[in-house]
Amino acid sequence: MEQIVSLAKRRGFIYPGSDIYGGLSGTWDYGPLGVTLKRNIMQLWWKMFVEDRDDMHGIDAAILMNQKVWQASGHVDTFTDPLVECSNCHARYRADKVDLAKCPNCGKEHTFGEPRQFNMMFKTNVGPVDDEASVSYLRPETAQGIFTNYKNVLDTFYPDLPFGLGQQGKAFRNEISPRDFIFRAREFEQMEIEYFVDPSKWEEAFEHWRQQVWKWTQALGLPDDQVHELEVEEKDRAHYSKRTIDFEFDFPIGKEELLGLAYRTDFDLMNIQKATGKSMEYTIKGTDTKFVPHVIEPSFGVERAIMAVLSTAYTEDEQNGEKRIYLKLPAHLAPVKYAVSPLVRNKPELVEKAREIYATLKAKYGAVMWDDNANIGKRYRRQDEIGTPYCVVIDFQTLEDGTVTVRDRDTTEQTRKKIEDI
Ligand code: GAP
Repeated sequence: MEQIVSLAKRRGFIYPGSDIYGGLSGTWDYGPLGVTLKRNIMQLWWKMFVEDRDDMHGIDAAILMNQKVWQASGHVDTFTDPLVECSNCHARYRADKVDLAKCPNCGKEHTFGEPRQFNMMFKTNVGPVDDEASVSYLRPETAQGIFTNYKNVLDTFYPDLPFGLGQQGKAFRNEISPRDFIFRAREFEQMEIEYFVDPSKWEEAFEHWRQQVWKWTQALGLPDDQVHELEVEEKDRAHYSKRTIDFEFDFPIGKEELLGLAYRTDFDLMNIQKATGKSMEYTIKGTDTKFVPHVIEPSFGVERAIMAVLSTAYTEDEQNGEKRIYLKLPAHLAPVKYAVSPLVRNKPELVEKAREIYATLKAKYGAVMWDDNANIGKRYRRQDEIGTPYCVVIDFQTLEDGTVTVRDRDTTEQTRKKIEDI
């Protein structure tokens, strides 16, 4: 884990948030390569689950919402974690994540009192007046932005049932103990689907999305044998769920939740109906049959997907007696697809040809990097560490026959190819 965190910082993927001011716990900033990796993952999701499907629509709701949203959803009352405080050093921990017999901070025994419930929503005020009416929250899940727009979508599109709404965006939780790099952050990104179904058909929709989740983990390049389904017991399920499967992954920190799949019933739509007095019923086209749809919710965390992808990709081997570190990223996720270099940078004719090839590949693939720093060996090592699948080198032979050297990241093999064949 430490090696991944160090590589992520060293190579410009992920930096600690507010680093230059000493940091801000639970926040992370994405560098030039990290933001591209993150976008590649989010775009893959959007394509698979929104663009490529006829039964899905996209949504992008505001992060700040009327406080009534969070009262009706149950978050104001129940979105809590149990908090304990050490009576000796006043360190605070999540009661279910700490050894209650001994404080990990000061080492004293039996200093924790009874846990109290701590609400994880970040509270703020909207507008210049700081009173109860102006209270709002940074959303702790993107899901509510979907539920609050269900009626708008019905009114404007009236999609056939079942249909789903997908949203990607920031979520915020004032986690008691943010930990393990981006695994448990206070600001993170979710990709959520609320899939509206006829209540009598929730099981088949649940099964459909269970299969889709597997397609997703495969598209990320995660090995099947490192992904595990955990059927969550009733006592551990969120307040809104009648069935939940947590998809866990063998992270370097252990087997932990990657994403969740929940059967939210009509919990959210009924709460909105009760709170607003507006009907959330869906009428089957051409009939008098009406009901409030039930919801299947696959909920994906972007940071956990990134962590799973990075830990799967992180590889060490030995090349010519030296240790090599490389990221075996699937090509479709790699932030840089090709690196292009002239063999040496002090031969104008080579540089000119290399620039021409660079421009051609950039027009074709977009994510192409020009790299003429240091010698070829060092360039390869740098590109290996950021997961670039191929390095293209322009040498004197290129000027004669239009072929270049293409070096494969995983095998380190070099082959000569015509420029047109890349
Ligand atoms: N709308 C349902 C919901 O939010 P959740 O299990 O609380 O369900 C869904 O969150 C996913 O969001 C998790 O499986 C995880 O991938 C991600 N997630 C939740 N809390 C997180 C945190 N503090 N840091 C990073 N990712 C988090």
